[in-house]
Amino acid sequence: MILISRICEMWTVLLTTACIIVKVSGDTELDLKKLQQDFYEWRLKDSPEYSSEIGQVKYNDIVTDFSVEQLDKRKKIVEDYIMKLNKIDRIRLSKDQQYSYDVFLDTMQTFVNNYKWRHYGALNPITALEGFQTDPAFFLKVTPFDTKGDFENYIARLIAYPKQIDQIIKRFSMAIHVSATYHNVTIAHVPGQLAKLIVSDPTQSVYFTPFNDTIKKLAVPQAEIDDMVKRGKEATANFIKSIKLLKSFIETIYMPNTRKSYGVDGWKDGQEYYKACLKWHLSTDMSPAEVHQKGLDEVKRIREEITKVMREKEGFHGTLSQFYQIIKARPSLHMSTGGDLLQEYKNIIFKRIYPALPKMFKNIPDLKVVVEEEPYDGPGGQYLIGTEDGSRPGVFQVNLLKPSKSPTFNMMALSLHETVPGHHLQGSYALKAGLPGFQKNIEYERYFAIPYHFPFYTAYTEGWGLYAESLGEDLGLYKNYMELIGRYGFEIFRGCRLVVDTGLHYFKWSREQAVQYMIDNTPLPRAEIETEINRYITWPGQACAYKIGEIKIRELRERARAALGGKFDIKDFHSVVLTHGAVPLNLLETIVNDWIKETVNNHAPGIVG
Ligand SMILES: *[C@@H]1O[C@H](CO)[C@@H](O)[C@H](O)[C@H]1NC(C)=O
Ligand SMILES: *[C@@H]1O[C@H](CO)[C@@H](O)[C@H](O)[C@H]1NC(C)=O
Repeated sequence: MILISRICEMWTVLLTTACIIVKVSGDTELDLKKLQQDFYEWRLKDSPEYSSEIGQVKYNDIVTDFSVEQLDKRKKIVEDYIMKLNKIDRIRLSKDQQYSYDVFLDTMQTFVNNYKWRHYGALNPITALEGFQTDPAFFLKVTPFDTKGDFENYIARLIAYPKQIDQIIKRFSMAIHVSATYHNVTIAHVPGQLAKLIVSDPTQSVYFTPFNDTIKKLAVPQAEIDDMVKRGKEATANFIKSIKLLKSFIETIYMPNTRKSYGVDGWKDGQEYYKACLKWHLSTDMSPAEVHQKGLDEVKRIREEITKVMREKEGFHGTLSQFYQIIKARPSLHMSTGGDLLQEYKNIIFKRIYPALPKMFKNIPDLKVVVEEEPYDGPGGQYLIGTEDGSRPGVFQVNLLKPSKSPTFNMMALSLHETVPGHHLQGSYALKAGLPGFQKNIEYERYFAIPYHFPFYTAYTEGWGLYAESLGEDLGLYKNYMELIGRYGFEIFRGCRLVVDTGLHYFKWSREQAVQYMIDNTPLPRAEIETEINRYITWPGQACAYKIGEIKIRELRERARAALGGKFDIKDFHSVVLTHGAVPLNLLETIVNDWIKETVNNHAPGIVG
């Protein structure tokens, strides 16, 4: 729109001609927007649980279709959208619209191109890291319970879940049939997770919780409430019954048929499959060998940084691993209670980081982040994005269960990564950038289906998270060498992932080889490393995205600095990177290059939009 009026001003003399151009390009833009909106609507309906998560209530009464047939149906639908997109003349769009067009095409093309892998991960919809059983409390949290309609929707979903579980079992069965099952480590914890949901009295179930108290607040006749409670109880009981079935299926049928190799190279064409996963996550062309080598180089470089501090500041001459075990055990580097830990996270984020942000960012969106206790014993911290209107804030969930195992020197790097300038700031710019729905709200779920899934541009997203950790240095936020040691520990760990992920899935590394490499090069004790390795085995390629994305952002920043010299403004650079939402790394490069050109020519003082 801004562009259109500018054209009109510049061409007043040729008003008639100009306005014809405007009309045509306006229509093209409208066509694109309409098609994107249409696609987004389909995505919401196709992923109803995800719709609820982003605050859309329209599909709160249905659940995701996990049938095997759906794998084919989705491809047809997406191909149809691609055909329609091909009819839109990209060249008539404004620059920003062209980027959006490119993301749209890449999103759909990535999906369709990977159709040939539909009978791999996509047939195995539940892992210890993913599935309804991992965090039922979250599902309840994003479901509204304010009206009778909300409860009716919820009951409809409870009724639909047994059918969904049926579909999940069918997919798993097919995975066994085509020899594309997970390694046992991916699934081994699932029966235990399911067991927690199985109770003999449905009113004791977590799924029944809303019928206990919340429902009493409804302003509807008691008889209607009683009726809903009755149906809720029945539906919960049936749901639990099918959870039991699923558990027994996994234990007695799936587990004995799990694949023997740790890496996906054990599957037919597994190395090709791994390359497809890697490309999906990295959104750039890098071979497993290049990723592996980059990892080795990074680990060597970061090791030197750590060794320097270790020797110079602490006079320590043992191994890196010994050093971290010693400092992690120091009582002076711990909080004594979970409550203290929570308070310290808040101090770090709100008293130390936020005041420093304006040095490197401008137009910071006013969307809040809150720090809360993680409801289960998961990772050290994780971020859940809020809603665009701010009605649900972004949430930084922190693990408060083990203060004695959570050294304070890690807290700064973790906070930078998950909140600001990391994922919360990144998500906030994207939410406020006026992007179409499918770009603004990305479904960071269904990892299992990758690469037959819509990309969420892991390298951009996680690369930024890691880049945010490094910004802590630029902003002078690491207040002593201990906090810096925490940061290096996080960083070397991401470097190791490049080596180990490719090692396991492509270069026939044994699990023990992977464990040993990480023991030698990261701060983590063996038990935590084993959990990590299981994650890499479960999500091939995902762990490589962090370091590759960060390196790319840094490279683009240095390129811009060199090209622009005195005209380089770090705030503008960050806006350019953040205001187009999550994009493939290849497109990010184009966007930054275009911006450099514009700035050199001095046409645009800052960025458009
Ligand atoms: C619901 O209320 C019943 C009866 O008061 C109680 O026994 C049960 O524990 C409650 N269930 C949940 C999930 O809180
Ligand atoms: C899978 O792991 C479970 C839990 O550790 C174990 O009981 C089972 O024997 C394992 N199965 C296979 C095939 O390795």
